[in-house]
Amino acid sequence: MTVVVTGATGRFGRLVVEELLRRGVPAGNVVATGRAVERLSDLAERGVVVRRADYGDPESLLAAFAGAERLLFVSGNETGKRIEQHRAVVAAAARAGVGLVAYTSIVHADTSDLVLAAEHARTERMLAESGLAHVLLRNGWYVENYDIPAAVAHGLFGAAGEGRISAAPRADYAVAAAAVLVGDGHAGRVYELGGESFTLAELAAEVSRQSGRDVTYTDLPEHEYAASLVGAGLPEALAAVLADADRGAAKGGLHVETDDLVRLLGRPVTPLADVVRAALS
Ligand SMILES: NC(=O)c1ccc[n+]([C@@H]2O[C@H](COP(=O)([O-])OP(=O)(O)OC[C@H]3O[C@@H](n4cnc5c(N)ncnc54)[C@H](OP(=O)(O)O)[C@@H]3O)[C@@H](O)[C@H]2O)c1
Repeated sequence: MTVVVTGATGRFGRLVVEELLRRGVPAGNVVATGRAVERLSDLAERGVVVRRADYGDPESLLAAFAGAERLLFVSGNETGKRIEQHRAVVAAAARAGVGLVAYTSIVHADTSDLVLAAEHARTERMLAESGLAHVLLRNGWYVENYDIPAAVAHGLFGAAGEGRISAAPRADYAVAAAAVLVGDGHAGRVYELGGESFTLAELAAEVSRQSGRDVTYTDLPEHEYAASLVGAGLPEALAAVLADADRGAAKGGLHVETDDLVRLLGRPVTPLADVVRAALS
């Protein structure tokens, strides 16, 4: 079975490729793709097939997807440009006759009011209209989005209020994605994937407990939080999207109630305490 992975040059896609190999998929049946394919040379040395795939270049996508029985379609990271890019990916997958597409979406994509969710919802509809067999991996927040050493140094800031956030390490979502890619019976399924739930005050308390420092959470109005992110060096557009995500999280937009991630992992999700310990070590 040939499995093609887009975004393999990125952090999540790389973890999925590693997990496919760990699960015994022969390297020659794994196709790792991205634009910056020089980042994949170590995988090529291990026998993984490396192909260039640019969401802005339909011919590269068609060539990259040739022979794909299963395709992991990792959502692009250029917010605002993704509708056209993702349309090209879906069209190429359909032309290439891919057997199953697994798409990395966002939790509650079809009902979420997060700015980030709009492009995911649109992509989900494109997949539905394409006729391709597909499965939606609606990934929750990456716990790596929180810079724990920075929280120790400066405190934790956000605009998520008392909202519970079901975050997990990228690696957990990657294992779940690999399980879907090599498994059966996933076509047509929608997985809402989230880890241990916490408020940002609870995250600060855990960081305090483990670091021995007094780390507090300061909740800011959305616009003030966006301004603080710009002050910390983030581009304005990204800061606005992240502050909006916190606004939505305050109302439960990043909270997941299903145990889909645990079921796909076949083990508990990595506990928050372990994530904090690793970040502080
Ligand atoms: N759940 C969360 O908390 C969260 C947080 C951030 C992002 N995300 C989403 O999850 C995805 C994967 O996360 P990640 O941590 O692996 O992100 P990442 O490290 O930034 O990697 C993004 C990947 O997308 C590829 N990509 C972006 N635009 C592309 C294009 N036009 N054509 C081809 N490939 C393109 C990149 O390839 P090249 O580098 O080779 O161009 C890279 O491999 C992100 O792209 C984003 O959609 C989720």
